[in-house]
Amino acid sequence: MQLDVFTLVPHAFAWLTEQRPLAAVLGDELELRLLNYRDFSPLRGGQIDDEPYGGGAGMVLRVDVAAAALDAVYDGVPDHRVVALTPQGRPLDQRAVEELAGEERLTLLSARYEGFDERILVHLCSDAISIGPYVLSGGELAAMVVVDAVARLLPGATGSEESPRVESFSAELGGRLEYPHYTRPASFRGWRVPDVLLSGHHARIDEWRRDQSHLRSAS
Ligand code: 6GU
Repeated sequence: MQLDVFTLVPHAFAWLTEQRPLAAVLGDELELRLLNYRDFSPLRGGQIDDEPYGGGAGMVLRVDVAAAALDAVYDGVPDHRVVALTPQGRPLDQRAVEELAGEERLTLLSARYEGFDERILVHLCSDAISIGPYVLSGGELAAMVVVDAVARLLPGATGSEESPRVESFSAELGGRLEYPHYTRPASFRGWRVPDVLLSGHHARIDEWRRDQSHLRSAS
């Protein structure tokens, strides 16, 4: 997958790229480019945002700057998905993540402060995603959430690509939450690991986990 992220703070992604799952897939299943709008700005001093018409607080990412950035990198609006990170977008869920992870090429646009000139969303993007019903000071954290969630689905990301994914929200659990996990010690301050997990009885363990997954989920 070729994943391009347009951002004003490419260095903020460094932490993310240094750890798994990203580090495991970078340069292999994942080609990640962190692109700074400022480097493509046609304006003096690399200006990228401006005051909102009609007044109001905050700054707005300019449409000419976003267009120049896309022109420089793709020679126009690309024919693959260009997703803006904005609280007005479609709420991100695991199904959306799986859909994005299936794309061969994907571009994410993030903005700081008040966000995008509406014309960016209408004319330069194919869709928009929000990571939840709350407001962040910028789309970078949201972009990182998307990058992480997508990257861990790519082959080789977790080192267990052979086994079907049994994890929260997965099809294997019918979209439900995952069962509880335990590791050594088997007893700590009298807090005991459920006996069934120590039994070595795989059928009973599977049944217990299915039951727990149901108990944890509303459905
Ligand atoms: Cl994608 N951006 C911002 N600024 N706030 C958000 C968000 C995105 N998703 C939830 N809140």
